[in-house]
Amino acid sequence: MNPRKMEAKELIEKLKEEHNEIPALIDDAILTYQIGNLSGAFPVIAQVREVIAQHTIDEESTILKILLDKLGKDNSKEYIEIFQQHVQITKAVDAAVESTYTGWTETVNLLNNLKQMTAEHHKKEEEIVFPKVLSLL
Ligand SMILES: [Fe+2]
Ligand SMILES: [Fe+2]
Repeated sequence: MNPRKMEAKELIEKLKEEHNEIPALIDDAILTYQIGNLSGAFPVIAQVREVIAQHTIDEESTILKILLDKLGKDNSKEYIEIFQQHVQITKAVDAAVESTYTGWTETVNLLNNLKQMTAEHHKKEEEIVFPKVLSLL
């Protein structure tokens, strides 16, 4: 998966849109599962993984790069720490996908956990990271 070729400002708008789209997709997966449609829920969970994977690549390759280039590593610590949450988020996505292979018993809990983790993370990006990047452009 490659980073999307977009200008930083346009990319930030896209990333914010995805911050709204991700919880809606997770809810869609949970509801589809809860009505008993497992074969319908799986592609939605796969789509959550796809959206988050592309989103993460863009934040780390484009957004973080701007911060490092303009501020240097020492002055980017606060932002690096926020992006380090991607490791835990990726693990939570993988756990939710893998739970569908082993009977779905944990899937709803794992998806709710992912939803909470991403909500907190997205809030920090929108309040701390994105405004800083926009101020540097
Ligand atoms: Fe992120
Ligand atoms: Fe994000």
